[in-house]
Amino acid sequence: MKKILTAALTAAAALTLAAPTMAEDVLLKHKCNTCHDVAAKKVGPTWKDVAAKASAADIKAALEKGVKGKYGKVPMPPQPKAVADADAIAKAIMAMK
Ligand code: HEC
Repeated sequence: MKKILTAALTAAAALTLAAPTMAEDVLLKHKCNTCHDVAAKKVGPTWKDVAAKASAADIKAALEKGVKGKYGKVPMPPQPKAVADADAIAKAIMAMK
């Protein structure tokens, strides 16, 4: 059952990547998807995990200063180029709850 669910989620994520919505464009633009995915664990936590655990202010702070020790051992470096889009990014992530 878990395998089927994972496969379904991966397929859904692949579809999302193939046809990104306006909101997700901002995440693709900054290449956040190198380390993050909607539901598949990569270097960073999934967007779903982030949406469940972080507020819009947390998301903005993570872009400005980076974040470490909240989800695992790997830290996220600051993403200075994405700070200007922080509001759109927070909205896009929170929409993936
Ligand atoms: C080099 C890999 C990498 C890149 C690129 C990256 N992240 Fe992360 N991100 C991580 C890791 C690893 C964590 C988990 C850090 C931790 O456990 O504290 C994380 C955590 C986060 C969090 C959680 C913050 C919190 O307080 O809960 C947010 C939001 C986030 N990333 C957004 C982004 C956005 C937006 C981008 C693109 C601008 C991005 N990340 C690019 C690796 C990355």
